[in-house]
Amino acid sequence: MNPQAEELNVIIKEKSTVVYNLLSEKGKNIFFPKKGILGQTAEAKGTKINATIGAAIEDDGSPMRLDVLASKIDLDPSLVFPYAPSFGRPDLRSKWKNMIVEKNPSLQNTVLSLPVVTNALTHGISMAGYLFVDPGDEVIVPSLFWGNYNLTLANAYGAQLTKFNLFKNDGFDLDAFEEKLNEGETGKKILILNFPNNPSGYTPTQEEVDSIVSIINNSAEKGNEIVAITDDAYFGLVYEKDIAKESIFAPLSNLHENVLAVKIDGATKEDYVWGFRTGFVTYGIKGGDAELYNALESKTAGAIRGNISNAANISQSLLYATYNNPKYSLQKQAKFQTMKNRFKAVKEALEDEKYKKYFTALPFNSGYFMCIQLADGLNGEDVRQVLIKKYSIGTISLNNILRIAFSAVAAKDVKEMFDGIYKACEECS
Ligand SMILES: Cc1ncc(COP(=O)(O)O)c(C=O)c1O
Repeated sequence: MNPQAEELNVIIKEKSTVVYNLLSEKGKNIFFPKKGILGQTAEAKGTKINATIGAAIEDDGSPMRLDVLASKIDLDPSLVFPYAPSFGRPDLRSKWKNMIVEKNPSLQNTVLSLPVVTNALTHGISMAGYLFVDPGDEVIVPSLFWGNYNLTLANAYGAQLTKFNLFKNDGFDLDAFEEKLNEGETGKKILILNFPNNPSGYTPTQEEVDSIVSIINNSAEKGNEIVAITDDAYFGLVYEKDIAKESIFAPLSNLHENVLAVKIDGATKEDYVWGFRTGFVTYGIKGGDAELYNALESKTAGAIRGNISNAANISQSLLYATYNNPKYSLQKQAKFQTMKNRFKAVKEALEDEKYKKYFTALPFNSGYFMCIQLADGLNGEDVRQVLIKKYSIGTISLNNILRIAFSAVAAKDVKEMFDGIYKACEECS
């Protein structure tokens, strides 16, 4: 093993054997090369003639750039053209950490890592797979989950996705979750919690969150060592009362010495910048301290360095400027209201009793999506095809469930959409 990886492992083992045990083989072997090109470049910072890094510099010392490009960008060239660090821009990392605590006030006194910047959430999930999933490891997911976990975790790292039933009696199926988590031998467990959930648009109530956390705590008490990955892609888009407002990462990050919480989040959906590709991985474990977290951050940055090298500087700089702009909160609130109005339009439209003949809504209260369960005998793919060809309505078919991204449908069009779905179902039945 590379001595730099060994150095990190010694720290991690000393601070938490659980975290060490939870690392995959790849995770144990990875390190951020301090002594390579990046390290030597860092040491040369400020030299008069700096011939270290593979980037070009104008004669005046500013980043070399084409004016056709630079003239379109209203940011200082130093924030745009050079590489960002593999860990991410330090200013954005500490800003995002402060924002996590602001959005989840119960984290006020919890010691967390600094977020490491990823190329948005998909990449964050992939890096969590790199660090924690060995071929054949089970990863617990709900029965309705974002299909890309198949590529990011199963195809890429050999995970076996194993499902628990998501809904019972219009709420979270706590029994199914508990049973799945405690199934099999005591040892390493990996799970992904994604609220608001894609595809269902469900976030548990505060009471359900408390129960989920206590199920995880009991499982940890029994000796299981758990990596709880929270995919917070749609964080903050909660439209109903009594639904948990904070991420479940908050209680998990300080729950138990046997539970490592890994928060995957980012600007993509929260700040409506899908193409920017800026996300974060943040760690929390009871008793975690700066040394443990530094080691985990280094391993994460090492995995990133060996994968995409670093995430786009321009996106990070634009977001940093945005988060510091006093108009940010108000504008974000306005977009939230638009999303909430669409959600309300969906709820209102679904009050039409006639729809029950062909479809019923699965529980939803948040996020970008909701799902309808088609009546027995209807084929989702057939309905989807008719919807496109005859009614010019696009939906996603997941067996006999249709996923509807109300985030992309103007409130005024919602009723027409459900009437179209009703008619398409009538024609397909
Ligand atoms: C649950 C969930 N996680 C992650 C992502 C991916 O986010 P990103 O575009 O930031 O990679 C999505 C996007 O559809 C998602 O639905």
